[in-house]
Amino acid sequence: SARRPVIAGNWKLNPKTIAEASQLLKLLHANFVNHRTPAQLDVEVVVFPPFPFLLEALLVLQGTGIKVGAQNVALQTSGAYTGEVSASMVRSIGVDYVMLGHSERRALFGETDADINKKLHLCLAEPGLGVILCVGETEDEYESKLLASVCDVQIRKGLKGVSINDLSRIIIAYEPVWAIGTGKVATPEQAQVAHTVIRKTLADMYGYQAADSVRIQYGGSVNPENVDALMSMPDVDGALVGGASLTADSFTRIVDGSV
Ligand code: G3H
Repeated sequence: SARRPVIAGNWKLNPKTIAEASQLLKLLHANFVNHRTPAQLDVEVVVFPPFPFLLEALLVLQGTGIKVGAQNVALQTSGAYTGEVSASMVRSIGVDYVMLGHSERRALFGETDADINKKLHLCLAEPGLGVILCVGETEDEYESKLLASVCDVQIRKGLKGVSINDLSRIIIAYEPVWAIGTGKVATPEQAQVAHTVIRKTLADMYGYQAADSVRIQYGGSVNPENVDALMSMPDVDGALVGGASLTADSFTRIVDGSV
C-alpha cells in the first residue's frame, strides 16, 4: 500500500515556559526549513504542544512543513464549560490535528470510549481537522492475552458512527501502556502483531480496501535508535513520540531515521 509515514511528537505537559517552547520550535525550524533531508519530504510530521504554545508553534514552524496538533479538545462546542478548549477554537487558529484517547487521558482523567467518540465527531465537524485516535492495552491486559480484544473494543467504540468517507481523516496510534515512558519499547514484531489486529478490526468495520489505507502509528519509548526497526514492519506506518520529541535533535533524528 502507499501509506505516507507520519511521525508525531506529543509534548504532553512540557516544557514549562513559552521561552523554552519557543527555543525548541526555533531549533525544529532550523532542522526542517526547506526540508533539509529527503525523509522530511516523504514523512508527514506533526507536533502536539500544550494549548498556550499552539499559536507560537504555528508561527515559528512556517516554512518547515511541520503540522501542529492539539492534545485534547472539549466534549462540548461552546458555552458554560470553564477551562475547556473546543475543536472549533483550535481549528480556527490553524491546527491540523487533534489527539484523542491517549492512555493518560483515559487513566488519569477518566475519559471513556464514549467521551472519545463524542470528541471525535466534534473534530470531524470541523472541515480539514484530522484526528489521531490512541488505543492500547495495559501491562495486565497484555499478560492476560487481552491485547486483541482491548484494541478491538477501543477501535469500535472510538470510531462508532464514523463514515468510511471520514476514515481518511483519522490516524490510529497503537500505544501499549506498558511501553509509554518506560524505556520498554515493544519489539518490532510485537508492534506488527498489534497493528495487524487493529487493521483487521478496521477491515471488519470498513472493508479491506479502506482499512488498508489507514495509517497506524506505534507509540511507546520510540527513540532515534529503535525507530528504523519499528518502521520496517509492514503495518507500522509511523510513530507517536513522547519523551524523545522534547529535544529538536532527537525528534529530527527520529524523522530522518523513519524512512
Ligand atoms: O504519546 C506518546 C506516548 O505516550 C509515548 O511516550 O515516547 O515518552 O514513551 P514516550
